[in-house]
Amino acid sequence: MNEDIISTNYPVSFKDKGYDFLKEIIKNNNYSKIFLHVDENTKKCCLDYFLKHLNNLKIIEIESISGEENKNINSCLKLWQEISEKGGDRSSLLINLGGGVVTDMGGFVASTFKRGIDYVNIPTTLLSMVDASVGSKTGIDFGVLKNQIGTFYDPKLVIIDPNYLDTLPEKEKLSGYAEVFKHSLISNNHIFNQLIKSNNIFIDSKVIHDSISVKNNIVIKDKFEKKERKSLNYGHTLGHAIESFLLNSNKKLLHGEAIAIGIILATFLSYKLYDFSKKNLELIKNHLKNLFGNTNFEPKEIEKIIDLLKHDKKNSHGKVNFILLKEIGKPVYDVEIGKDLILESFDFYLS
Ligand SMILES: NC(=O)c1ccc[n+]([C@@H]2O[C@H](COP(=O)([O-])OP(=O)(O)OC[C@H]3O[C@@H](n4cnc5c(N)ncnc54)[C@H](O)[C@@H]3O)[C@@H](O)[C@H]2O)c1
Repeated sequence: MNEDIISTNYPVSFKDKGYDFLKEIIKNNNYSKIFLHVDENTKKCCLDYFLKHLNNLKIIEIESISGEENKNINSCLKLWQEISEKGGDRSSLLINLGGGVVTDMGGFVASTFKRGIDYVNIPTTLLSMVDASVGSKTGIDFGVLKNQIGTFYDPKLVIIDPNYLDTLPEKEKLSGYAEVFKHSLISNNHIFNQLIKSNNIFIDSKVIHDSISVKNNIVIKDKFEKKERKSLNYGHTLGHAIESFLLNSNKKLLHGEAIAIGIILATFLSYKLYDFSKKNLELIKNHLKNLFGNTNFEPKEIEKIIDLLKHDKKNSHGKVNFILLKEIGKPVYDVEIGKDLILESFDFYLS
């Protein structure tokens, strides 16, 4: 049994202990209504299993349509409307049962409905377990631009139950692995070496626990992303731009697939500017390309991706800021990078 992880204001609790915690929260809070937010896949694959743990819990099911392209204000309008029509008030609870799209959007809906109601995250993808459901960032996309609208809003509880991963498609597991790998790069050599050695995606409860702990320790130091939390964006500056650019194309990538490319690009920049080890750079590139394959980019596409960078939330005062690494576990914040070097990093990725 994994130990609870305590985040800023809430526990991240594992398996049975988590469900017991939820029962206790429900008992102590006298909620007027309990809404359970799913998408069509988690309704099919996860809902019965969840309800079995909460014997006879009276819930009102609300559903959104899966997919990043639906993480937007229209889906929120539908959710707010349903909660409102079905009697939701300030004393209601919203439980999000799903991947990062459900937890991000559900968290945002909870944080804004009646100026904020309680919510609980039960992540059902690897990515939402190790990353999206923990850390209190909620949000939706704005057009193709990722996570432009959102809030910082703590859940009451996060329940981690790796059994949900049994039905998750392999491609989605791989997508989550990109964030597990990123957490190893910004924390320590030990986890990094373990992941590199396995040369495959290696996920068990301990890996999930350690990966959440890496994120959580950083969030506790810097919840509002003034400094340390920026390291969680390693690989995300270009990764997000790539994800946005390809969102409505036939080359569309999952979040983690885009981040894996972003990690290779950021590591090349780290090597060029901060002497990051060439040996580790090659190990990282080979490991990620082995798992995720290669995505081809035409020069014109790279230009458009670079154009999208100006919308990245990490920018300020009109400058594009990157997070780089001096070495594993040693981030450098707010590095400005010129276009030529970014083009060079794509050459390295494509070579
Ligand atoms: N808030 C944060 O700090 C944070 C951090 C990282 C990522 N994110 C966000 O997370 C999102 C990506 O999350 P994701 O990768 O979980 O994607 P997702 O929510 O789109 O889920 C992936 C797919 O798997 C399906 N699914 C979910 N659980 C399943 C299960 N157990 N069995 C079968 N199918 C299942 C979903 O319906 C969906 O089709 C992005 O929007 C990203 O911006 C947020």
